[in-house]
Amino acid sequence: MAERAVWLADEAATVNMGKSLANALKSVPSARGLVIFLHGTLGAGKTTFSRGLIQGLGHRGAVKSPTYTLVEPYDQLEPATWHFDLYRLGDPEELEFMGIRDYLAPGNVCLVEWPERGAGVLPGPDLDLTLTPEGEGRSLVFEPRTEAGQALLDRMQEQSDSAAGGQPQNLDRTDQD
Ligand SMILES: Nc1ncnc2c1ncn2[C@@H]1O[C@H](COP(=O)(O)OP(=O)(O)OP(=O)(O)O)[C@@H](O)[C@H]1O
Ligand SMILES: [Mg+2]
Repeated sequence: MAERAVWLADEAATVNMGKSLANALKSVPSARGLVIFLHGTLGAGKTTFSRGLIQGLGHRGAVKSPTYTLVEPYDQLEPATWHFDLYRLGDPEELEFMGIRDYLAPGNVCLVEWPERGAGVLPGPDLDLTLTPEGEGRSLVFEPRTEAGQALLDRMQEQSDSAAGGQPQNLDRTDQD
């Protein structure tokens, strides 16, 4: 499956990229829950990206970091979305007690910051996103892991091409250096 890299010059670019993924999510029906992992060091921009995605799905208002609550529900959205931050998860088993399986119902979206902390209990992702600080900005790599993840990425690319007036837009950051 083809990975893709983009360069995000500032916070607004990270938010906008989250919104682009939200638009793709709205138009790709999923037969089962979609799981998106957000990797990156402290302060890499995972919550910023999540905020763009959640607001892009229509949420009005703040998107707080679920660092202490572990999960924040946005189940009024279409598709219903859960935002996890597992940084403070003591033991992956806790996810079982939280009823993790219920969150992964068909059609739902689960966005997971610090998924490494849930290893062994969390299901594998459809899409891995990795944010890395680079100069003043961030690089973001998308790696689809399932057909559904690939379909989502393809839709995002199609939408960005048509927004560019039908001209295929190269998302590869090497073009913008
Ligand atoms: N593309 C970007 N360029 C520069 N700064 C950015 C970019 N995207 C986000 N930031 C900044 O990075 C900072 C940290 O972002 P954020 O809280 O989203 O990180 P995080 O990965 O969720 O961290 P944590 O692991 O603590 O949850 C914020 O101040 C935000 O403005
Ligand atoms: Mg965060």
